[in-house]
Amino acid sequence: MHFQSLVVSLLLATSVAAHGNKTESTQGECKEIEQLNGLVKLASNTTKLDEITKNNATKIAEIQAKASTASTKLTTLQSNTTLVSACAVIDAQEQEDDGCQETFALQRFVKFAANSTAVADATKNNATKIAKIQAEASKASTKLETLTSNSTLQADCPAVQQEDECKVMKTLQKFVDVANNQTKLDKLTNGNTTKEAEIKAKAAKDQTKLTAMTGNATFVAACTALEGKGTTGSTSSDGISSQSTKNAASLLSGAGAGFIGLSTAVVVLLGMIAL
Ligand SMILES: *[C@@H]1O[C@H](CO)[C@@H](O)[C@H](O)[C@H]1NC(C)=O
Ligand SMILES: *[C@@H]1O[C@H](CO)[C@@H](O)[C@H](O)[C@H]1NC(C)=O
Ligand SMILES: *[C@@H]1O[C@H](CO)[C@@H](O)[C@H](O)[C@H]1NC(C)=O
Ligand SMILES: *[C@@H]1O[C@H](CO)[C@@H](O)[C@H](O)[C@H]1NC(C)=O
Ligand SMILES: *[C@@H]1O[C@H](CO)[C@@H](O)[C@H](O)[C@H]1NC(C)=O
Ligand SMILES: *[C@@H]1O[C@H](CO)[C@@H](O)[C@H](O)[C@H]1NC(C)=O
Ligand SMILES: *[C@@H]1O[C@H](CO)[C@@H](O)[C@H](O)[C@H]1NC(C)=O
Ligand SMILES: *[C@@H]1O[C@H](CO)[C@@H](O)[C@H](O)[C@H]1NC(C)=O
Ligand SMILES: *[C@@H]1O[C@H](CO)[C@@H](O)[C@H](O)[C@H]1NC(C)=O
Ligand SMILES: *[C@@H]1O[C@H](CO)[C@@H](O)[C@H](O)[C@H]1NC(C)=O
Repeated sequence: MHFQSLVVSLLLATSVAAHGNKTESTQGECKEIEQLNGLVKLASNTTKLDEITKNNATKIAEIQAKASTASTKLTTLQSNTTLVSACAVIDAQEQEDDGCQETFALQRFVKFAANSTAVADATKNNATKIAKIQAEASKASTKLETLTSNSTLQADCPAVQQEDECKVMKTLQKFVDVANNQTKLDKLTNGNTTKEAEIKAKAAKDQTKLTAMTGNATFVAACTALEGKGTTGSTSSDGISSQSTKNAASLLSGAGAGFIGLSTAVVVLLGMIAL
């Protein structure tokens, strides 16, 4: 987990260096500040450096050289007080979003753990694994209580959930569109008709979900409103990728509360997968 997030941070830091000269949006600049900060912080933590480089002095020197450049860039960016205040607002919003996402993930996990049929299925009735899930669920419940008792955070969560669901709707729509476009489908599957049949079967299920969503006028109106505000991150056609960029950015924020929050949820979910 740690290692993975750091690899991500290094990759992103490299791409930051490569794109550093482009005129960027405020949001992009804030993300850059976050990434640069992560890199500088990493370079100053010798324990962590040793850990991720496996004590390779060459690699350490490389990272430190990058961090030195990053530090200069950071000073320049942070001298812009307008930008710094704008970033504080964006960060606060992202932290709330992360808190909500964590709430949702923990709720799903606790619900799953309370369903003995689902747990038995997932673990193939292995008592050791079941015990592990119950132990995790107990921790998850405690964490969930903390999160749900924060009324400031929870006030934001219905909107975040709506936003998530709008993204799901878009993803379903995209998938269905592909499945309905024979030209595209042929291209994607290299004409493998078995694969095409699989995709079409899945698309048929997705279409059912999609119909339920688009049939709800309140729901559709809420999505349209969100898009108008540009908060879905998907006014361009790639809502999914901008969302994952955001997640990567939160991973990067290192010691930020958002990170701790998110990582707990991710660890819980990874724990489930690793069973
Ligand atoms: C970045 O932009 C500045 C001014 O716009 C230019 O002087 C500089 O050469 C550019 N650096 C790179 C690496 O492209
Ligand atoms: C440095 O990294 C180690 C290992 O990842 C971590 O336990 C420690 O808290 C970090 N120290 C600081 C000052 O961030
Ligand atoms: C250390 O890292 C450098 C640069 O990434 C690499 O070329 C070298 O093979 C590594 N050395 C060891 C002992 O792994
Ligand atoms: C400071 O940042 C703001 C917001 O990104 C930007 O509009 C402005 O041009 C920047 N000012 C300077 C001097 O770079
Ligand atoms: C409640 O959540 C908000 C928004 O994420 C956060 O800023 C605040 O620190 C939290 N309060 C407590 C007591 O954890
Ligand atoms: C429990 O899980 C099973 C299998 O996944 C599912 O069919 C059932 O609806 C779930 N029960 C509840 C109460 O959610
Ligand atoms: C049950 O799960 C544990 C831990 O994952 C594993 O070590 C063990 O071999 C499993 N037992 C059976 C009977 O599969
Ligand atoms: C189907 O996909 C092809 C290839 O990607 C594209 O050129 C075409 O416009 C699509 N057709 C429709 C009706 O969307
Ligand atoms: C076609 O797709 C199916 C299902 O994804 C796969 O099992 C099969 O190997 C593929 N056939 C060829 C010829 O690639
Ligand atoms: C329609 O969507 C709204 C907003 O997301 C939701 O509150 C409501 O429960 C949905 N109605 C139905 C029948 O699913």
